[in-house]
Amino acid sequence: MRLDVFTQLPHAFAWLTEQRPLAGILGDGLELRLFNYRDTTPLRAGQVDDEPYGGGAGMVLRVDVVAAALEAAYGEAPSHRVIALTPQGRPLTQAVVEELAGERQLTLLSSRFEGFDERIVRQLCSDAISIGPYVLSGGELPAMVLLDAIARRLPGALAEGSGEHESFSTELAGGLEYPHYTRPAEFRGWTVPEVLLSGDHARVEAWRREQSRARSVPS
Ligand SMILES: C[S@@+](CC[C@H](N)C(=O)[O-])C[C@H]1O[C@@H](n2cnc3c(N)ncnc32)[C@H](O)[C@@H]1O
Repeated sequence: MRLDVFTQLPHAFAWLTEQRPLAGILGDGLELRLFNYRDTTPLRAGQVDDEPYGGGAGMVLRVDVVAAALEAAYGEAPSHRVIALTPQGRPLTQAVVEELAGERQLTLLSSRFEGFDERIVRQLCSDAISIGPYVLSGGELPAMVLLDAIARRLPGALAEGSGEHESFSTELAGGLEYPHYTRPAEFRGWTVPEVLLSGDHARVEAWRREQSRARSVPS
Protein backbone atom coordinates (compact mmCIF):
# COMPACT_ATOMS: atom_id res chain seq x y z
CA MET A 1 0.00 0.00 0.00
CA ARG A 2 1.07 3.55 -0.69
CA LEU A 3 -0.10 5.98 1.99
CA ASP A 4 0.38 9.72 1.59
CA VAL A 5 -0.16 12.15 4.46
CA PHE A 6 -0.47 15.90 3.91
CA THR A 7 0.31 17.91 7.01
CA GLN A 8 1.84 21.08 8.37
CA LEU A 9 3.95 19.00 10.77
CA PRO A 10 5.62 16.12 8.91
CA HIS A 11 8.29 15.79 11.62
CA ALA A 12 5.56 14.77 14.11
CA PHE A 13 5.45 11.35 12.42
CA ALA A 14 9.08 10.43 13.12
CA TRP A 15 8.51 8.42 16.31
CA LEU A 16 5.68 6.41 14.79
CA THR A 17 7.74 5.31 11.82
CA GLU A 18 10.50 4.09 14.15
CA GLN A 19 8.11 1.77 16.04
CA ARG A 20 6.48 -1.51 15.12
CA PRO A 21 4.27 -2.23 13.30
CA LEU A 22 5.19 0.58 10.90
CA ALA A 23 8.96 0.18 11.18
CA GLY A 24 8.66 -3.49 10.21
CA ILE A 25 6.80 -2.96 6.92
CA LEU A 26 8.01 0.45 5.73
CA GLY A 27 9.52 0.14 2.26
CA ASP A 28 8.09 -3.36 1.99
CA GLY A 29 4.30 -3.69 2.41
CA LEU A 30 3.86 0.02 3.08
CA GLU A 31 5.24 3.06 1.34
CA LEU A 32 4.64 6.17 3.47
CA ARG A 33 5.13 9.67 2.05
CA LEU A 34 4.77 12.85 4.08
CA PHE A 35 3.92 16.11 2.31
CA ASN A 36 4.08 19.56 3.86
CA TYR A 37 1.49 22.01 2.45
CA ARG A 38 4.09 24.74 2.90
CA ASP A 39 6.43 23.18 0.32
CA THR A 40 3.98 23.70 -2.55
CA THR A 41 1.87 26.65 -1.41
CA PRO A 42 1.30 29.24 -4.16
CA LEU A 43 1.24 31.95 -1.47
CA ARG A 44 4.16 33.95 -0.18
CA ALA A 45 6.20 33.15 2.91
CA GLY A 46 4.81 29.65 3.27
CA GLN A 47 1.28 30.83 4.01
CA VAL A 48 -1.27 27.98 4.05
CA ASP A 49 -4.27 29.35 5.96
CA ASP A 50 -6.34 32.50 6.22
CA GLU A 51 -9.00 34.26 8.27
CA PRO A 52 -12.53 32.86 8.02
CA TYR A 53 -15.04 34.72 5.82
CA GLY A 54 -17.82 36.06 8.02
CA GLY A 55 -15.41 36.64 10.87
CA GLY A 56 -14.62 34.62 13.96
CA ALA A 57 -11.59 33.21 15.69
CA GLY A 58 -8.94 30.95 14.19
CA MET A 59 -7.38 30.33 10.82
CA VAL A 60 -8.76 28.12 8.05
CA LEU A 61 -6.67 25.90 5.71
CA ARG A 62 -7.01 27.30 2.17
CA VAL A 63 -8.48 25.32 -0.72
CA ASP A 64 -5.96 26.69 -3.27
CA VAL A 65 -3.09 25.54 -1.03
CA VAL A 66 -4.43 22.00 -0.73
CA ALA A 67 -5.26 21.84 -4.47
CA ALA A 68 -1.67 22.89 -5.25
CA ALA A 69 -0.28 20.24 -2.89
CA LEU A 70 -2.39 17.49 -4.48
CA GLU A 71 -1.51 18.64 -7.98
CA ALA A 72 2.21 18.66 -7.19
CA ALA A 73 1.96 15.10 -5.84
CA TYR A 74 -0.39 13.53 -8.41
CA GLY A 75 -0.55 15.83 -11.43
CA GLU A 76 -4.23 15.27 -12.11
CA ALA A 77 -7.16 14.57 -9.79
CA PRO A 78 -6.21 11.41 -7.85
CA SER A 79 -8.25 8.32 -8.72
CA HIS A 80 -7.65 6.79 -5.27
CA ARG A 81 -9.37 7.75 -2.01
CA VAL A 82 -8.53 11.13 -0.51
CA ILE A 83 -9.62 11.33 3.12
CA ALA A 84 -10.08 14.50 5.17
CA LEU A 85 -9.42 13.97 8.88
CA THR A 86 -12.08 15.96 10.67
CA PRO A 87 -14.23 15.56 13.79
CA GLN A 88 -17.18 15.95 11.41
CA GLY A 89 -16.31 12.82 9.38
CA ARG A 90 -17.74 9.31 9.63
CA PRO A 91 -16.59 7.55 12.80
CA LEU A 92 -13.49 5.36 12.64
CA THR A 93 -14.26 1.74 13.55
CA GLN A 94 -12.39 -1.52 13.02
CA ALA A 95 -14.70 -2.18 10.05
CA VAL A 96 -13.55 1.11 8.47
CA VAL A 97 -9.92 0.17 9.17
CA GLU A 98 -10.39 -3.21 7.41
CA GLU A 99 -12.01 -1.42 4.47
CA LEU A 100 -9.10 1.04 4.15
CA ALA A 101 -6.44 -1.64 4.65
CA GLY A 102 -7.73 -3.27 1.45
CA GLU A 103 -6.91 -0.20 -0.67
CA ARG A 104 -3.73 0.04 -2.76
CA GLN A 105 -3.32 3.78 -2.24
CA LEU A 106 -4.73 6.29 0.24
CA THR A 107 -4.25 9.98 0.90
CA LEU A 108 -4.90 11.52 4.31
CA LEU A 109 -5.35 15.28 4.67
CA SER A 110 -4.88 16.87 8.07
CA SER A 111 -5.55 20.41 9.16
CA ARG A 112 -4.95 22.55 12.24
CA PHE A 113 -6.53 25.56 13.97
CA GLU A 114 -10.13 26.11 12.76
CA GLY A 115 -9.90 23.30 10.20
CA PHE A 116 -10.52 22.98 6.43
CA ASP A 117 -12.13 25.39 4.01
CA GLU A 118 -15.31 23.38 3.34
CA ARG A 119 -14.48 23.16 -0.39
CA ILE A 120 -11.48 20.97 0.46
CA VAL A 121 -13.74 18.36 2.03
CA ARG A 122 -16.51 18.65 -0.58
CA GLN A 123 -14.51 19.05 -3.81
CA LEU A 124 -11.04 17.62 -3.21
CA CYS A 125 -11.82 14.67 -0.91
CA SER A 126 -13.80 11.49 -1.43
CA ASP A 127 -14.18 10.64 2.26
CA ALA A 128 -14.00 12.26 5.71
CA ILE A 129 -13.12 10.37 8.89
CA SER A 130 -13.30 11.26 12.57
CA ILE A 131 -11.31 9.28 15.15
CA GLY A 132 -13.88 10.10 17.84
CA PRO A 133 -16.43 12.60 19.13
CA TYR A 134 -13.92 15.06 20.57
CA VAL A 135 -11.79 17.85 19.12
CA LEU A 136 -8.00 17.65 18.88
CA SER A 137 -5.73 20.53 17.91
CA GLY A 138 -4.62 19.02 14.62
CA GLY A 139 -5.01 16.11 12.24
CA GLU A 140 -1.56 14.64 12.93
CA LEU A 141 -2.66 12.42 15.82
CA PRO A 142 -5.76 11.23 13.90
CA ALA A 143 -3.53 10.47 10.88
CA MET A 144 -1.17 8.48 13.11
CA VAL A 145 -4.09 6.60 14.69
CA LEU A 146 -5.31 5.63 11.24
CA LEU A 147 -1.80 4.77 10.04
CA ASP A 148 -1.13 2.49 12.99
CA ALA A 149 -4.51 0.77 12.77
CA ILE A 150 -4.14 0.18 9.01
CA ALA A 151 -0.50 -0.95 9.29
CA ARG A 152 -1.50 -3.67 11.79
CA ARG A 153 -3.77 -5.17 9.13
CA LEU A 154 -1.12 -5.29 6.38
CA PRO A 155 0.70 -8.56 5.63
CA GLY A 156 3.92 -8.97 7.62
CA ALA A 157 3.13 -6.28 10.21
CA LEU A 158 2.41 -8.62 13.11
CA ALA A 159 3.66 -12.01 14.20
CA GLU A 160 1.65 -14.83 12.59
CA GLY A 161 -1.82 -15.06 14.17
CA SER A 162 -1.38 -12.28 16.73
CA GLY A 163 -3.77 -9.89 14.98
CA GLU A 164 -6.54 -12.39 14.43
CA HIS A 165 -8.32 -12.81 17.78
CA GLU A 166 -8.33 -9.19 18.80
CA SER A 167 -11.18 -7.00 19.99
CA PHE A 168 -13.62 -6.15 17.16
CA SER A 169 -12.27 -8.93 14.90
CA THR A 170 -14.64 -11.17 12.94
CA GLU A 171 -13.06 -14.14 14.77
CA LEU A 172 -14.61 -12.74 17.97
CA ALA A 173 -17.85 -11.78 16.19
CA GLY A 174 -16.92 -8.10 16.48
CA GLY A 175 -16.80 -8.38 20.31
CA LEU A 176 -14.10 -7.73 22.88
CA GLU A 177 -11.12 -9.98 23.45
CA TYR A 178 -10.96 -12.36 26.46
CA PRO A 179 -8.68 -11.44 29.41
CA HIS A 180 -4.99 -12.34 29.42
CA TYR A 181 -2.75 -13.33 32.35
CA THR A 182 0.97 -14.07 32.63
CA ARG A 183 3.45 -15.04 35.40
CA PRO A 184 3.36 -15.00 38.38
CA ALA A 185 0.36 -17.32 38.84
CA GLU A 186 -0.29 -15.62 42.19
CA PHE A 187 0.53 -12.06 43.26
CA ARG A 188 -0.67 -10.56 46.56
CA GLY A 189 -3.28 -13.30 46.70
CA TRP A 190 -4.58 -12.37 43.22
CA THR A 191 -4.74 -15.63 41.31
CA VAL A 192 -4.95 -16.62 37.69
CA PRO A 193 -8.13 -18.52 36.62
CA GLU A 194 -7.44 -22.22 37.19
CA VAL A 195 -8.52 -23.18 33.67
CA LEU A 196 -5.58 -21.26 32.14
CA LEU A 197 -3.12 -23.38 34.14
CA SER A 198 -4.88 -26.67 33.32
CA GLY A 199 -3.13 -27.36 30.00
CA ASP A 200 -6.54 -28.42 28.62
CA HIS A 201 -6.74 -26.52 25.31
CA ALA A 202 -10.40 -27.29 24.68
CA ARG A 203 -11.39 -25.93 28.13
CA VAL A 204 -9.17 -22.87 27.62
CA GLU A 205 -10.81 -22.20 24.23
CA ALA A 206 -14.32 -22.57 25.66
CA TRP A 207 -13.47 -20.30 28.63
CA ARG A 208 -12.03 -17.65 26.31
CA ARG A 209 -15.08 -17.71 24.05
CA GLU A 210 -17.37 -17.35 27.05
CA GLN A 211 -15.28 -14.49 28.53
CA SER A 212 -15.30 -12.68 25.20
CA ARG A 213 -19.08 -13.07 24.90
CA ALA A 214 -19.67 -11.85 28.48
CA ARG A 215 -17.46 -8.76 27.97
CA SER A 216 -19.12 -7.87 24.70
CA VAL A 217 -22.66 -7.60 26.09
CA PRO A 218 -23.52 -3.89 26.05
CA SER A 219 -24.07 -2.60 29.62
C1 LIG B 1 -9.27 22.16 16.19
S1 LIG B 1 -9.69 21.03 14.91
C2 LIG B 1 -10.96 21.89 14.04
C3 LIG B 1 -12.32 21.61 14.58
C4 LIG B 1 -13.43 22.27 13.78
N1 LIG B 1 -13.37 23.70 13.90
C5 LIG B 1 -14.78 21.77 14.29
O1 LIG B 1 -15.30 22.36 15.24
O2 LIG B 1 -15.29 20.76 13.75
C6 LIG B 1 -8.31 21.14 13.83
C7 LIG B 1 -8.06 19.91 12.99
O3 LIG B 1 -7.72 18.82 13.81
C8 LIG B 1 -8.13 17.59 13.21
N2 LIG B 1 -9.04 16.90 14.15
C9 LIG B 1 -9.42 17.34 15.38
N3 LIG B 1 -10.21 16.47 15.98
C10 LIG B 1 -10.34 15.42 15.16
C11 LIG B 1 -11.06 14.17 15.23
N4 LIG B 1 -11.79 13.86 16.28
N5 LIG B 1 -10.96 13.32 14.18
C12 LIG B 1 -10.23 13.65 13.09
N6 LIG B 1 -9.54 14.81 12.96
C13 LIG B 1 -9.60 15.68 13.97
C14 LIG B 1 -8.81 17.95 11.91
O4 LIG B 1 -7.86 17.83 10.85
C15 LIG B 1 -9.22 19.39 12.16
O5 LIG B 1 -9.40 20.13 10.96
